[in-house]
Amino acid sequence: MSALMQTYARLPVTFSHGEGVYLYATNGRRYLDGIAGIGVNGLGHAHPAVTAAIREQADKLVHSSNLYRIEAQEQLATELTRVAGMDNCFFGNSGAEANEAAIKLARLYGHRRGIERPAIVVLEGAFHGRTLATLSATGNRKIQAGFEPLVAGFVRAPRDDVDALRQIAANNPDVVAVMAEPIQGEGGVHPLAADYLQAVRQICDEKDWLLILDEVQCGNARSGTYFAYQGLELVPDVVTTAKGLGNGVPIGACLARGPAAGVLGAGQHGSTYGGNPLVCAASLAVLRTIEQQHLADNAREMGQLIADSLVADRVSAGQIVEIRGRGLMLGIELRRDCAELVQRGLDAGLLINVTAGNTLRLLPPLIINASEARELAAGVAALIHDFA
Ligand SMILES: Cc1ncc(COP(=O)(O)O)c(C=O)c1O
Repeated sequence: MSALMQTYARLPVTFSHGEGVYLYATNGRRYLDGIAGIGVNGLGHAHPAVTAAIREQADKLVHSSNLYRIEAQEQLATELTRVAGMDNCFFGNSGAEANEAAIKLARLYGHRRGIERPAIVVLEGAFHGRTLATLSATGNRKIQAGFEPLVAGFVRAPRDDVDALRQIAANNPDVVAVMAEPIQGEGGVHPLAADYLQAVRQICDEKDWLLILDEVQCGNARSGTYFAYQGLELVPDVVTTAKGLGNGVPIGACLARGPAAGVLGAGQHGSTYGGNPLVCAASLAVLRTIEQQHLADNAREMGQLIADSLVADRVSAGQIVEIRGRGLMLGIELRRDCAELVQRGLDAGLLINVTAGNTLRLLPPLIINASEARELAAGVAALIHDFA
């Protein structure tokens, strides 16, 4: 432990293996996974399709670099752009890198239009990552404090406030893009209002701004559609994703369409590992399984089942201020700060997370079935009972 920088306050448990929605610890206990590696393991643990893809690819070739064509990367780009309704994509290794690519793309887009100091509108409560540009885009002072000077070129707007965005549009000629999570995750699981996002799309069209949606957390079927914007009757110019795309192999993607798709050219962005044969073979297996097994539909149904069960339980319902989210991205806001529920959950064999102080967050695997979803809801309800 002491050889690690203490960037995480880790819980006192180590997992040795997993299967489906369960993780098994070195202490011999089994845990129901309600957080899926922070929204990563959509197909759960040790999914046979992912394991087979990794094995097969590892037997042949793990890495060759982007100096050469990579078959699995081209296939993944074809399938992912088809699913997203985008024209092309860039692969990095994480959500933050996907967003860095989007930020660079937007800046270059601005420079090409003669804007010397291009700015991107970002929202209060947003989380876009921990690199310098993405933490500057993040709307949470705690994440920024101590790392000043922040990267310039971000303009902060309140979420769901069309008038505020119109004011920025009227007063700031340097803006070139809006970047937002359709469902803010780390900020407390806040879905943006559909009519707000539609208005943002319209303002972007009027001003020739790019609409960049960060679906690092809510993408890959978690919200009940493959991408959250697909339930909102709008298409962004740029979408970023990571987490559930790889089910645990490190991958991030920045997808673009229309004029945005032609912005980044040779030598203007790159990544040594980005989209290497191993991660792309695994991600292809993930994407195909999500589609073949209709996991977006399952996310919608199981999310509803969990929310309904919590509401039906009178004692826990009395402690809940609000249940927010879409599909299997659920935030259960309680009457007071509840960080201690994470340890209590662990003691009860349940892996959950708390975000924004008072919001219990559930991001279970998308493969969860009805009886496992009931088990998860009952476990959470019991935690809330005791907490009350
Ligand atoms: C919406 C969003 N964007 C970006 C990130 C950063 O992703 P990563 O940790 O893979 O860099 C996260 C991680 O939680 C996220 O939820």
